[in-house]
This record gives sequence, structure tokens and C-alpha cells, in this order.
Amino acid sequence: MIKDIYLERLPKDFMWGVATASHQIEGNTLNNWTQWEKDTANERAKKLPSWYKLPKALEQLAHNPELRVSGKACGSLELWKKDIEIMKELNLNSYRFSIEWSRVMPRKDFFDKEAVDYYRSLIKELKKNGIEPMVTCWHWTIPVWLAEEGGILSKNFVKQFSKYVQYIVENLAEDVKYWITINEPDAVSTMSYLLGTFPPQERSLIKYFKSHFVVMVNAHRKAYEIIKSNDKDSYVSIAKNFILFKPSKSSFVNKIVSGIADFFHNTLMMNRISKYLDYIGVNYYFDWEIGVHGISVGKGKLTDFGFPMKPYSMKRVLKNLKKYKLPIIITESGVPDYQDKYRSFWIEENIKAIADAIKSGMDVRGYMHWSLLDNFEWAEGYWPEFGLVDVNWKTLERKIKSSGYSYANIINAFNKFVKKN
Ligand code: BGC
Repeated sequence: MIKDIYLERLPKDFMWGVATASHQIEGNTLNNWTQWEKDTANERAKKLPSWYKLPKALEQLAHNPELRVSGKACGSLELWKKDIEIMKELNLNSYRFSIEWSRVMPRKDFFDKEAVDYYRSLIKELKKNGIEPMVTCWHWTIPVWLAEEGGILSKNFVKQFSKYVQYIVENLAEDVKYWITINEPDAVSTMSYLLGTFPPQERSLIKYFKSHFVVMVNAHRKAYEIIKSNDKDSYVSIAKNFILFKPSKSSFVNKIVSGIADFFHNTLMMNRISKYLDYIGVNYYFDWEIGVHGISVGKGKLTDFGFPMKPYSMKRVLKNLKKYKLPIIITESGVPDYQDKYRSFWIEENIKAIADAIKSGMDVRGYMHWSLLDNFEWAEGYWPEFGLVDVNWKTLERKIKSSGYSYANIINAFNKFVKKN
């Protein structure tokens, strides 16, 4: 169990939460992923990335094309009250979730009132239960009509995104203080236009740059202005993915390579939007060694994705953000761990990293663990398990895992500590 010396460093109103995304949990969404998932399921299930070192049981699941299609996901569109009950059981006081753009604007220039009513009920119920909502406007999925016009690279993307944000702000902002405009502009641009693993599966350096450093930047700035002009006290950011790049073997060339990767993945976007942020939303998953020979995973334990299991490295990621002089909220951090063997360790090390970063002068205000439920993990489908709660894909029954209880115990210990002092 985590010691008081760590807990005492956290602010008394620390946000203890979890994060999810609409397409990954709601079920039956109709967006740019829906058809693509069906069209490419076989091909994706056939060829697994070479760096995966999956145990037999997981390898079988990864090769099953049926698990590569989102379908009913976790059924949270119906089961959201159950999800809130679970959050209460886990002692959480915050919840980051996203609004499904394709539900709110299923057709061009048409806003679906019922879709927004659903999110309003969700927000009200959270507040009634003492859980602070943090709303992500966009977590990667695009309405079909806009995808047909070119998606992120359509000349209308920023305009349509702004209309959508305006509408949800008008309808939901009275109960929402914390906003994320865009989830991981870096990852969605890289996967869609550089690595070609997300729809529309293109590989073009020019398109990647345009998506990441032009469209995403403009979309964020516009959304920031819309949210702030409605309520200047709202608290707005993006959820930015940060990777800790370390030179593999400390040669001069490797240092340069690692510096370049750090600049393009971590810094450039931050510099372009730092005047349009009230805090920094940090998503942390990886600590990578990089050099002229590419990325290596270094020594030590690996996650189910074959990536280094380095939860404490979050501390260095946080400290690297000192220059922006902004408060920080961890908007995601988690581990694919189907046996739930390392998740409790991951959470404890994350909290220690946060406490140590605070000790060295950083202003960290919250932690949203990824994720509440085992959910639909994009191109990988259902086999990677990130949840504090297990979901039975047939019955949609939820069962809190042992790591869920460890997280709840940490929060409980913190609450007791705060009461006592
Ligand atoms: C994304 C999530 C995803 C998680 C785990 C993050 O980059 O925001 O949607 O499920 O990573 O891979």
C-alpha cells in the first residue's frame, strides 16, 4: 500500500478519476470507424505487429477477426447508470468521458437533440453522485458525412468541428467546468496519416504534418475560444500524448535522434497551442529508447503490447513541462495487462511519480486512470485489456478487478489522511 509520505504531497482536492471514450464503450456507433472495422477486420487479425510478444491465450484472441469490430462495445449507452455505480464503489470523484460527434451531428447541419440529452443526463447523474465531469469534445471518431468530405483533411473540418463544439457548449456547459477539446492530436495524426493503421490508412509525411500541426492546432484554438467565450472560468486543455524518449546508448547521434523525436512528438504541438491552454492534460503510456537503429524497448518487464513497463517515468514527463508554468492533470495513463497482474503496481508507481513531481515544484491536480472498463481498443479490437473492471463481451456484465479495488483503497487512504489532518 502506498505510504502517507506520498499521499501528503497531493493537494486536498486532488481529482481521482478514470477516463473513457465514446466509441470505445458506448456501442453501436456509426462513424468513420464503423465500416472500416468490418472491411479490414480479417486483414488486421491475420498480421500482428512483430513487436507483440503475446502469450498463447492472447495470441488466439488477437487473431480473431470478430474481436476487431466495435459492435455493442461495453453497452454503456444503456448501462451508464451501472458505470456510475461502479465509479462510486471505486471512491472516484472525477470522470473523463467523450461526446460522440457522430451521434450529435449524424447529418450535415443537423443536430440531434436526443443525443445531447443523453450526455446531459449522464452529466447530471455524475454531479448528483459527487463526481466531477471532464468532457472530451473529440476522441477521434468522425461523422460519416464529414469523413466522406475528406475527414481531418477536409477543408471544412475546423468549421464543422467549431459548429459542433458551439452546440455542445450551448447545451452542456452549465454543468461542466473541465474540458478537453481534442484527445491526442499527435496519435490520431500519426496513426491515420503516417503509420497508416487507422482510417483512412494513408502514409504521407505531408498529410501527417498538415493534420497534426495545422488542422489539429486550428481546431483546438477555435474550440478553446468557443468554450472560454461562453464561460471564462471554464478550464480547457487538450489531452496530449507524451512519450519519454531516451537515447539508446548515450552516443552523440542517438542523443540527436532522441531530441528530434521529442521535438516533433512532444514539444512542437505544445509550443503552437500553449497560449490556448488553462492546464496541460497529460496522457502517459511509454518510455522508449531511441537511436539511429530505431526504437528499442530496453531492459525490464514489458506490457501486453510489448512496450516497456515504466510507470514511474511519468515523473520525468511531468518535470519536462515545467517551462509552460501551467497546472497539470493526468488525463490518461494505463497498462494493457490481461491478467491484471501489474495494474496495481502501475497505479501506485504513477501516484508516486506525481507526488515526487509535486515535491519538486510541479502543480499536478488530478489523475484519470485509463480505463474504467475493458473496452474497444481501436485497430487492435477487444483483446488488449486496460480496464479496472472486466466486461463480459456476451452479457456485458461488469466485474471489478483486484486492481480496481487497489485503486479504491489508495483513494480511501487519501481521504482518511485528508480528514485526519
Ligand atoms: C487513447 C485511448 C486508447 C489508449 C490505450 C490512448 O492513446 O487515447 O483511446 O485506448 O491510448 O492505447
